[in-house]
Amino acid sequence: MEKIVIKGGHRLEGQLPISGAKNAALPLMCAGLLAKDGLTLHNLPHLADIKTLASLLTELGSTISYDEEGWDIGSGQTVTIAASHIASTTAPYDMVRKMRASILVLGPLLAREGEAIVSLPGGCAIGNRPIDLHLKAFEDIGATIELKDGYVRASGKLTGGTVHFPIVSVGATENILMAACLADGITIIENAAKEPEITDLATCLVAMGAKISGIGTSRLEVEGVNELHAAEYTVMPDRIEAGSYTVAAAMTGGELELLGDNLPYVMTGTLEILKQAGLVFTETERGLLTRLGPEKIIGINAVTQPFPGFPTDMQAQLMAMMTLCDGASVITETIFENRFMHVPELCRMGADITVNGSTATIRGIEKLLGAPVMATDLRASMSLVLAGLAAEGVTEVKRIYHLDRGYERLVQKLGSCGAKISREKDNDI
Ligand code: EPZ
Repeated sequence: MEKIVIKGGHRLEGQLPISGAKNAALPLMCAGLLAKDGLTLHNLPHLADIKTLASLLTELGSTISYDEEGWDIGSGQTVTIAASHIASTTAPYDMVRKMRASILVLGPLLAREGEAIVSLPGGCAIGNRPIDLHLKAFEDIGATIELKDGYVRASGKLTGGTVHFPIVSVGATENILMAACLADGITIIENAAKEPEITDLATCLVAMGAKISGIGTSRLEVEGVNELHAAEYTVMPDRIEAGSYTVAAAMTGGELELLGDNLPYVMTGTLEILKQAGLVFTETERGLLTRLGPEKIIGINAVTQPFPGFPTDMQAQLMAMMTLCDGASVITETIFENRFMHVPELCRMGADITVNGSTATIRGIEKLLGAPVMATDLRASMSLVLAGLAAEGVTEVKRIYHLDRGYERLVQKLGSCGAKISREKDNDI
């Protein structure tokens, strides 16, 4: 295993390219199953989750070709996913358990082949992550759902229909949206998620010949078509990576220019809270300049919400910053039931945080102290890296395979902006 070693207290300054969004890239890759003649995606990030999904899509019969646009720090990869025929409609447990977003192959397989057998993804560190909303939605548009031996089998001809989600679900919206494109009728999706990644997926599906209206709203209308065709699409920038690095600049008293398109829009919800915390943003030709304003970090009251609210995927990173706030802050997590595992690790670095149910109260301290800490999930591990960048002394973040799932070239990017950070073998575990 490997660890990240950070010598804290160094200001971050310079330009930092934002990679393609993991949470847009994954559903977009699954959309490749819907067309026989190939979907080409640009700006795909070099991440473990992308590799995992690519191997699943290959297993299902897709041909995947890579056009490496260079491994320099800012470039994504171009990948073409051609599913001329589907060799298998089964997503096996050993692949799905590695990455729960594999459940997003269910909709495309069901729409394309009239059948999909996908292992139930099971829970993860942040919650039990059920898929009941996905399955109910498929039944609403004509599918039959059977659960057996830890697998879900969805089958039948999709006729379209009305889907009403009782709570907002990003993955369920994406799954049903992809399936509805090839249904034999019209599908209405009410209370659809409005995250930018959904808009990215819907825009790509339209480029492939899908008929979707209401994009960007909570009511989507899909008129099924017989088939989708090849298209090219560029993945949007990763709003969570961008938000994470704005926190890095603020916590180290530095200034970063984040390079990426449309960052203020995709970062809706995040920017509002960060501005309340005293961060200053200036749009530039190539992206967004970010630094902490003249004050100290100002304490805030943040509640995670579906888009356009403050994103749950930024909660752990915001909390890291609030450990140094002037006064106190309150952060409430409303999306996942166990997303405070970074708290005990931040406390090991001297943070003053108390948790009461889904609410954390953070009392600002003068400085964090470096320490060996353990990553538990993707965003928690980033919050520990951020704390390490600001802390006095050396911080070692262990189990960084979590980080590799969602942050492309993290050490190179931070190192290029002045961080004293390295990736080393961890002989302890
Ligand atoms: C997506 O997960 C993201 N993952 C998550 O990012 C993100 O935190 C989440 O959306 C919320 O924005 C990807 O896009 C790959 P949900 P998803 O369905 O789709 C409950 C990261 O760090 N629910 O919107 O799984 C669920 O338990 C990851 O990049 C049901 O009850 O999230 C949760 O409480 C973490 N039944 C809430 O809804 C269902 O059938 C929102 O989950 C589905 C979800």
